[in-house]
Amino acid sequence: MELFRDAARGCQTHSPLNATLLRAAADDLAAGGVTTKVMAGSELDRGGTVPGLRFAGSVHRLVLEGKAPGLAKHYPTVGGHLERDRLWADAEPVLDEHADMLRAMIRANAVQTNEPARSAALYGGLLVAAERAAEHAGRELPFPVRLLEIGASGGLNLRPHRFGYRLDDGTSFGDDESPVQFDLSWSGRPRADLATPLTVADRAACDMNPVDVTTEDGRKHLSSFVWPDQVDRYQRLQGAIDLAQADPVPVHRAEGSEWLRTQLAKDATGMVTVVWHSVVWQYAPPRERARGRAVVAAAAAEATEDAPLALLVFEPRRGNDPADPYHFDLLLRLWPAGISLHLGTGVGHGDPFTWDERHWV
Ligand SMILES: C[S@@+](CC[C@H](N)C(=O)[O-])C[C@H]1O[C@@H](n2cnc3c(N)ncnc32)[C@H](O)[C@@H]1O
Repeated sequence: MELFRDAARGCQTHSPLNATLLRAAADDLAAGGVTTKVMAGSELDRGGTVPGLRFAGSVHRLVLEGKAPGLAKHYPTVGGHLERDRLWADAEPVLDEHADMLRAMIRANAVQTNEPARSAALYGGLLVAAERAAEHAGRELPFPVRLLEIGASGGLNLRPHRFGYRLDDGTSFGDDESPVQFDLSWSGRPRADLATPLTVADRAACDMNPVDVTTEDGRKHLSSFVWPDQVDRYQRLQGAIDLAQADPVPVHRAEGSEWLRTQLAKDATGMVTVVWHSVVWQYAPPRERARGRAVVAAAAAEATEDAPLALLVFEPRRGNDPADPYHFDLLLRLWPAGISLHLGTGVGHGDPFTWDERHWV
């Protein structure tokens, strides 16, 4: 019950709908109502498995699947509009009717997200890596990129060059004919030529728990964990999934360090190999992180001017502001150039983003 209240507080700013649903469900749990039946078997789950978000995501999934017409009118992702005072009265019969299905979903589901808006910072970071590696090698043109992603989830950030990006000064880059366009709130710019298209020559990805977005189940799974109030984000996710279906790249089920060792053993002459991960490392145990660092260090020692290696990450770091304790830094290391840069800082979903290049120690 407390975990539901915690989850409600966490949703308050971005999802009044989930916050209202979770608060009412917490009261219902306390009163021994239908939510008790739905959550049976998950009562002792650890807080880290976020039972409240699994509950809210599973209810959202029923709505997306058209199985809860009486509740759908509150959900903006299917054209509805939240009426706070009516939400619980409309939710209760749905929980009652689908209690068994919901219970099974909540028990089986891990919260799984994939945020394509992180591709904007990734795009800028890849341009910087491709240009700096070329400068160091004395090449006139930037290197084509070989992108290796750890913790790719559904792999929606494997096509940064297939999205379109627009800045408020009228600059655009990426694919301006893409069905997925981002209107970015960037302060500053990456120190790279945005007018030169990024060439992604090769891509591969892994995840401990991948989502196959070429299936309807995978689409619904990722969609259900988008806040139902955030229609733009939801629509962009649908667009990114459509692109992934038209241009599929498999996400292999594997732990990052072991998978990376195999990938980095392959010859990639003529490309800059970029190892990328976003909002992944906090979930990896210390042993796995140490193994990952060792694999990258071994490959860095072998990197050459013709086969350079980069590590590009977008991960949370604790800051000094108690009201906003985490910020997300985009960091780049490049070998054999020996470059180590803090490129900028953004919000967790990738935009707004501030480009602020400086040495990173
Ligand atoms: C919050 S999601 C982020 C997904 C994606 N990187 C993005 O930015 O949208 C974290 C992902 O990391 C994966 N993950 C966590 N530890 C991992 C590891 N050691 N190796 C591979 N994947 C891992 C999880 O399964 C999950 O899909």
